[in-house]
Amino acid sequence: MHVSEAVRSRRSIRAFLPDPIEQNVLERVLTKAQQSPSGGNVQPWHAHILTGEPLARLVATVADVIPQGRAAHAPEYAIYPEALEGAYEARRFGVGEAMYAALGIGRDDKRGRLAQFMNNFRGFGAPVLMLVHTPRYMGPPQWSDIGMWLQTVMLLLREEGLDSCAQEAWAVYQKQVRSCVAIPDDHVFFCGLAIGRRDPQAPVNTFDVPRARLAEVVSFEGFAPAAPSS
Ligand SMILES: Cc1cc2nc3c(=O)[nH]c(=O)nc-3n(C[C@H](O)[C@H](O)[C@H](O)COP(=O)(O)O)c2cc1C
Repeated sequence: MHVSEAVRSRRSIRAFLPDPIEQNVLERVLTKAQQSPSGGNVQPWHAHILTGEPLARLVATVADVIPQGRAAHAPEYAIYPEALEGAYEARRFGVGEAMYAALGIGRDDKRGRLAQFMNNFRGFGAPVLMLVHTPRYMGPPQWSDIGMWLQTVMLLLREEGLDSCAQEAWAVYQKQVRSCVAIPDDHVFFCGLAIGRRDPQAPVNTFDVPRARLAEVVSFEGFAPAAPSS
């Protein structure tokens, strides 16, 4: 698989098939992903990978506190800036609306929207969940390194015919995550990565997620003008 094909075919999958994934496949992916770059070669990423009973136990532990609503939320970092504005807020709002529209969940259907959001805490049915953490004293550059590693993992999963969804949502239940998995106290729990095979029929896996035009995010300086196309 070419890199471009892996990039094109990766999308956040929110309905997985239950097919189990073998440890040796994940080991192959994660061994290759160790080639990811990081500032100073610090490699600040750490992960626990759950399947089967340990994953079912985490899902059940979180399910127990979901009825408490926001009272049970205790994220260790701000998942979004308090005032996300303009194009950034519009993109965030836009992907949510596109997803609910694909699922036929209307604007006023608060229960339907909440139920879909709560699918996060079943890993969208994925057979594998990776939980990512890093020492607390790591700063924004190291968090960005973790992002590079995660993207490398996600692209290598495509090469294996597998899919994924990064999930910051788990951060709100970091206490419950910690009660099931031995994340050191001096580490921050960052996010989950649901891993499995996509359900190709599920509308939640096929809606369009638009991207900003290149000119909105990149400017070129000092280049020769492009030759007119014939
Ligand atoms: C670090 C990170 C955390 C994310 N957390 C969630 C999440 O908790 N739940 C979710 O449904 N999607 C989550 N996403 C998926 C984004 O919504 C998605 O990447 C974005 O809308 C672009 O769509 P695409 O991945 O399908 O191309 C996350 C993505 C990243 C990179």
